[in-house]
Amino acid sequence: DEQEEETVEDRWWVQKRDRLLEIADESASAYVYNPQAAQKYAQKIQSLDAVDRTLYAMKANDNTELLNTFRDLGLGFECVSIGEVHKILELFPDIDPQNILFTPNFAPRSEYEKGLSLGVNVTLDNIYPLQQWPLLFKDETVFLRIDPGHGHGHHEHVKTGGVHSKFGIPRFEVPEVVDLVADLNITVKGLHAHIGSGIKDPHSWKDTAVALHRVAKELGGVQILDLGGGFGIPENDSQSLLGISEVNKSLNEFKEAHPQYELWVEPGRYLVAAAGVLLTKVTQLKGKGDVRYVGVETGMNSFIRPALYGARHTIVNLSKLDQPSNQSVNIVGPICESGDKLGIDRMFPESEEGDVVLLANAGAYGHVMSSNYNLREPAEEVVI
Ligand code: LLP
Repeated sequence: DEQEEETVEDRWWVQKRDRLLEIADESASAYVYNPQAAQKYAQKIQSLDAVDRTLYAMKANDNTELLNTFRDLGLGFECVSIGEVHKILELFPDIDPQNILFTPNFAPRSEYEKGLSLGVNVTLDNIYPLQQWPLLFKDETVFLRIDPGHGHGHHEHVKTGGVHSKFGIPRFEVPEVVDLVADLNITVKGLHAHIGSGIKDPHSWKDTAVALHRVAKELGGVQILDLGGGFGIPENDSQSLLGISEVNKSLNEFKEAHPQYELWVEPGRYLVAAAGVLLTKVTQLKGKGDVRYVGVETGMNSFIRPALYGARHTIVNLSKLDQPSNQSVNIVGPICESGDKLGIDRMFPESEEGDVVLLANAGAYGHVMSSNYNLREPAEEVVI
């Protein structure tokens, strides 16, 4: 059944174990990506009947081969900085800039100027640019990012709606925005909302569509509703995958009632998380009373999600995959912070120096968030 199929596909790294062990032999620590897995997830999103366009949120992973994979499937790109926009335009010089949505937040005026001059879709997520830089936007066509008033997600840091989030135009400012837009002869082509990351509620995107539709009625003439990303993936083995068929059903209901809109989505994590693993090697072992530590060559400098969000990722000793996991350990990196833990209280086999350790579901927000902290080179990227 579908759930069974997920498990096999998401554990492609078990089938490719020998190749991964070879890669680990050749490099210190490495992110390994499997574009076929990414392709499979993109196709799941593309199977949403009501969705007219899928934009890949490239902040999740800007690896060129993965970008190529998504371009081949006909996806557009959601870019959060002018740097991301440039990367896409350089990589795909023949792309229609309308396939790019630029969604900056508190960016300097110069980035909006650049975005408009490049002909990409530009999103305003604040009334400030309209009030302070009116001439820049006079007669232009833009998207507006609306804060529907609530956020969702796997951690407070990634909820992007509500007064405590810095994103989006709040509902109470909409009447003022309507007036400004009219005064400046601006065309609001699309409305946008992204309420958070790691969302498991299949009705979330429909709720967003309904909220945007209310704003669209006030503005008039809106053609596109971009419902954001945030499609969750399982954070541990007991969680199931977000029910895409339920998302489909709920969006179809919206589309039937409101066929006038094009619906866009912009997933990041969902497309790439399972397509990447992080490989590293055991450096040293330690025991302090009952607490055992397995040290590995790279830590929060390569992969900050466990330290930053308490994120839980499956971790295995790839060299000893067939041996019983009979001890509870903390898997820790070499960085000079106590928070440099990749996994806490994990059942692990008896491990030794040089064993290859694999961290699963590391394709999203892994390499892109890495740093040179402690002047330790973060893991490199390999595509298989
Ligand atoms: N659209 C916008 C406007 C966004 O800000 C984001 C993510 C996305 C789409 C894609 O969201 P996704 O489908 O990947 O959930 N570093 C955090 C996640 C931060 C998300 C930032 N914005 C993490 O590792 O969980």
